[in-house]
Amino acid sequence: MSDLLEDHAVAEAVFCPIDVFDVDVIRDDFPILRRRIHGKHLVYLDNAATTQKPQVVIDAVQEYYEQQNANIHRGVHYLSELATHLYEETRQKIRQFINAGSDKEIVFTRGTTESINLIASSYGKAKMGPGDEIIISTMEHHSNIVPWQLLCEQVGAKLRVIPIDNDGDLVLEEYYKLLSEKTKLVSIVHISNTLGTINPIKEVISAAHKHDVPVVVDAAQSMAHLRVDVRELDCDFLAFSGHKMLGPTGIGVLYGKEALLNAMPPYQGGGDMILSVSFEKTTFNELPHKFEAGTPNIAATIGLGKAIDYLLRVGHEKIAVHEDNLLEYANEALAAIPEVRVIGQARQKTSVISFVVDGVHPHDIGTILDQNGVAVRTGHHCTQPLMQRFNVPATTRASFALYNTREEINHFIEAIYGVIRLFK
Ligand code: ALA
Repeated sequence: MSDLLEDHAVAEAVFCPIDVFDVDVIRDDFPILRRRIHGKHLVYLDNAATTQKPQVVIDAVQEYYEQQNANIHRGVHYLSELATHLYEETRQKIRQFINAGSDKEIVFTRGTTESINLIASSYGKAKMGPGDEIIISTMEHHSNIVPWQLLCEQVGAKLRVIPIDNDGDLVLEEYYKLLSEKTKLVSIVHISNTLGTINPIKEVISAAHKHDVPVVVDAAQSMAHLRVDVRELDCDFLAFSGHKMLGPTGIGVLYGKEALLNAMPPYQGGGDMILSVSFEKTTFNELPHKFEAGTPNIAATIGLGKAIDYLLRVGHEKIAVHEDNLLEYANEALAAIPEVRVIGQARQKTSVISFVVDGVHPHDIGTILDQNGVAVRTGHHCTQPLMQRFNVPATTRASFALYNTREEINHFIEAIYGVIRLFK
């Protein structure tokens, strides 16, 4: 074990909060930002789809395969113990990061989508029946709509939808009216991937709790921008993905209150989630392993741990100030272009701007921006009902992260002017 602790000490040594936020220093940590695309400097503004990865995350994944690779929870040999230690250490890190009460409440999944599907399949099927209602909102990502629709079809429950206003804020009065004795679950996005709206989830949660209704929070867009404290929010479930918070793809988290998770049936069957198996009867492992069937993505889990170290080292307060500045700067620049209409002007927003340009299809905008080295997302952003609400087929979306700069936004705005000139 002492060798394991030495490895551990190396990992801990990296963690030392920075004093001053210097975006050039941050950028140096992200090798992909040095790339050129179509001969131009990469301006990566598609961070709501996935963030880039700092060198420490890339190195951790590589080091795992070069030096640590073994299966977890299964071996008495050194490498298996080391891999298990690193994997479980990340669980502890995540528990601290979101201030959960116990490691048992941290279930590793493939990402937000799988986390929500797990709740729908396990909690939903066990707890819901004909006539029951699930409340979501108009601004949900498809991954927080479709799993509930599938559940509703299977158990005869009904989906109710909180409307939003023209700015992209939830109409809370309508939400309060939807809550009733029929409501069995509320599942709500914290930050809209399309509008950037930061929802007042504390209010949403406390209103649901007055009716004894548990709340699922889709925090896919939150973790790289804001500090989320599950005990302060008092959410019942929280889902997020590693790849949107500087970590690898293929790893995500489901937080659930221990009592709820304990009462839920397993989601998938397989190795590691059992205590004993015979052809007559299987008994299940304790939390959180009951929900982690099969060999997980160990390398990505360890990488996610490094991403959390990195975010904590920079500090969410500093990140938020930087990103809010970028958002304000970009908003002002876009407001000065008469052909541009921003969709979503919520009271509280994070660094996401969706917009349309008169007479130009978003895909054309995306293609021309790409020729200028600028990566944005165009389309419906997996939020088709939201597009219908705003009566647009698609938008162009620029989303910023801690490593973006004002110079990059200037470049993006110049490219937008180029698009308008071309189509006039
Ligand atoms: N949910 C991701 C996005 O908003 C894929 O782009």
